[in-house]
Amino acid sequence: MIDTVRTIAALRDRVAERRQAGARIGFVPTMGALHEGHLSLVAAALAQCDAVVVSIFVNPTQFGPGEDFEAYPRDESADLEKLEQAGAQLVYLPAVDEMYPENATTVVNVSGITEGLCGGARPTHFQGVTTVVTKLLMQVLPDAAFFGEKDYQQLQTIRRMVRDLDIPVEIIGVPTVREADGLALSSRNLYLSADERREALSLPATLQAVAAKLRQAQGEPAAAHLDWGRAQLLQGGFDSVDYLELRDAETLAVLEGWEGQPARLLAAARIGKTRLIDNIAIG
Ligand code: PAF
Repeated sequence: MIDTVRTIAALRDRVAERRQAGARIGFVPTMGALHEGHLSLVAAALAQCDAVVVSIFVNPTQFGPGEDFEAYPRDESADLEKLEQAGAQLVYLPAVDEMYPENATTVVNVSGITEGLCGGARPTHFQGVTTVVTKLLMQVLPDAAFFGEKDYQQLQTIRRMVRDLDIPVEIIGVPTVREADGLALSSRNLYLSADERREALSLPATLQAVAAKLRQAQGEPAAAHLDWGRAQLLQGGFDSVDYLELRDAETLAVLEGWEGQPARLLAAARIGKTRLIDNIAIG
């Protein structure tokens, strides 16, 4: 059975034992409902570290009112089995009151980079993420922490936060894992009906098509291509498009066109009750 802990004190003891033995500690924070995307983070951590700690915590503070906190898929025993098979050494499963003491009033807020994109439609989301990730990093004290590029704004926000707050951890981004047909893996794909699952393919397909247009139109304004992409998503079966934008790959500043620099094309769109996000690199 894989080693599990539920309290900060037990977590610190177990990590300290491994650190004293000279281990480089890798950390993979998750909200559970684990799929191959999470397991690719564990694999990346195992390749670069001696011991891998995974947390499973559905963080209430990153869900807004009316979002899917209650419905978010939870399957602890299946997750533990997957992590054991993947070779992780320790799983941290804090309860909500272990993570957030009564009357906790401190938050971590990263401005600028969290505004717009997912921060536009989910205005309290990133404060919940940055607060819990700071707490998790302080609790685990890893040498390196691994985050998926699928949540690209989250990854860049955490890089910025760790830099700004001098948190001594290396943040490592891991490429998005996709189904054979191109759909990015996400715990929220479980919400999709068979029809929605088919229609959702227009998200990666549209990103690829818009990226090709932007590459061809290097140096020209991107607006018409982005408008075309939004229309494609609606035509492909999405009910609404939160955003389809071209941003600088590091700062996430808005780009009016692609000039050959590292850039990212990012989208979020809703199909039925499900909101899907995806992004790809350009350049
Ligand atoms: O990406 C996620 O699963 C979550 O946002 C994270 C980083 C585990 C924080 O709750």
